[in-house]
Amino acid sequence: MFKQLLLWILGGFLLQAIQIEIPTPPESIDPTQEIKAPPAILSLLKRSCYDCHSYQTKMPWYGEIAPISFEVKSHIKNGRSALNFQTWADYTPQRQQKIYQGIVDTINFRMPMPLYLTLHDEAKLSSKERHAIKAWAKGLLTPIER
Ligand code: HEC
Repeated sequence: MFKQLLLWILGGFLLQAIQIEIPTPPESIDPTQEIKAPPAILSLLKRSCYDCHSYQTKMPWYGEIAPISFEVKSHIKNGRSALNFQTWADYTPQRQQKIYQGIVDTINFRMPMPLYLTLHDEAKLSSKERHAIKAWAKGLLTPIER
């Protein structure tokens, strides 16, 4: 029994040797590349989305502990590559349009990720706030380009 417990603890330590690496953000981030939005919207995006969709990730303490870190870091890695609000100006107008549409489609249920919200009260959006984000993104859709 005791031996088994020791093995588990040892295994837990060894597991820490495996880590997913999130690519380090570039040394200088050009602030003019960031998405432009009305201040009220931008502050919602920063509060709810920036942990995964920008370089400004606030890593929680458990984010470094394997195997939780596998989950946390893959969300950050994949979230950033799907959409980084800080490299917005780099995206083609088509890609930006796709993302606006993506926001409209995901804001009610999929984004921010539900699992993440169970641990991040501060990122929760009220239905009014979701509505505001949706209306903003919808307003930027140009049907002709799509
Ligand atoms: C916990 C990390 C996390 C948070 C927080 C988060 N996202 Fe995401 N997001 C992801 C990941 C991972 C993907 C890529 C995989 C996927 O589409 O599920 C993604 C993909 C997306 C996409 C592209 C998906 C598509 O199908 O078009 C949009 C748009 C998006 N997120 C919007 C948002 C918005 C808006 C917020 C804040 C209100 C937000 N996300 C918060 C992790 C996150």
